[in-house]
Amino acid sequence: MQTRVLPFSADTIAEAARLILAGEPIAVPTETVYGLAADATNAAAVARIYEAKGRPSFNPLIVHVPDLAAAERIGRFEPPARDLAEQHWPGPLTLVVPLRKDAGIASIVTAGLPTIGLRVPAHPAMRALLRALCRPLAAPSANASGSISPTRAEHVLASLGGRIPLIIDGGAAERGIESTIVAATGGPLRLLRPGPIDIAAELDGGGKIEAPGQLASHYAPSKPLRLNATTAGDGEFLIGFGTVAGDASLSPDGDLVEAAANLFDLLHRADASAKPRIAVAAVPDEGLGVAVNDRLRRAAA
Ligand code: TXA
Ligand code: MG
Repeated sequence: MQTRVLPFSADTIAEAARLILAGEPIAVPTETVYGLAADATNAAAVARIYEAKGRPSFNPLIVHVPDLAAAERIGRFEPPARDLAEQHWPGPLTLVVPLRKDAGIASIVTAGLPTIGLRVPAHPAMRALLRALCRPLAAPSANASGSISPTRAEHVLASLGGRIPLIIDGGAAERGIESTIVAATGGPLRLLRPGPIDIAAELDGGGKIEAPGQLASHYAPSKPLRLNATTAGDGEFLIGFGTVAGDASLSPDGDLVEAAANLFDLLHRADASAKPRIAVAAVPDEGLGVAVNDRLRRAAA
């Protein structure tokens, strides 16, 4: 794949919007770092973020929206969270709040969690893209797994060149570090990741930092889960893949992007079924299969 680097302009935003609607992740500057953005309502598009980054595990992603009203259609905001949003948005603050189930966000975005990280970015390129699309964008930092966050288009090109179709060049990211993350999911507000907005003083308990993602950062099914299954045992809901059909399949064609896109929906479905146990067919440990298997091993542990 050839990666084009185009300067931020109305034409570039139109092209970026076209690619995102076609399910491609593209790199876009924000005021913190460059993000790798995909349609948060399209599970396969979000799976391609992981494919492009070569990330060996799934993490809940931050969803970017144009304003607080759009954020409130996706998450539930209690007054303390709304106050912070009103003070700091648009800007480098992410709020983790309870997810509205009917918001249409693909479950791979939150890695199956009942909460969601939301942010209203300030950068004009990201804002123009959000306005053009009228839909939320999931975007982690636009770098290959294991390398540092990109603050210039050249950094993105060096890290993801050949893996994504477009980088919008908006010059140097003004802040250069990722957004401050605050959890507002009930009880006192908690600082999950320090960042450009120094918010500690505003939080109860002096804003003691939790390790990033420490807050229930992994969805796990409540039932025992068996790996590498070829048939369903007694009382097992079998999640199939490829030639193993099962009660439901990650991907009948053995497509790893499709499997990643379906993973959390099927785990939830198996968990909610009448069967007391879950079994999952083997998924090849290559490409996105590495991330799928990482998640399945944790779920089985
Ligand atoms: O500045 C930023 O925030 C950049 C730009 C592109 O917006 N994005 C970014 O995304 O840094 P990422 O994916 O690299 O970091 C997301 C962080 C992870 O540490 C993740 O655990 C946390 O946000 N996070 C997201 N949703 C969460 C949730 N529901 N619960 C707990 N942590 C969450
Ligand atoms: Mg990152």
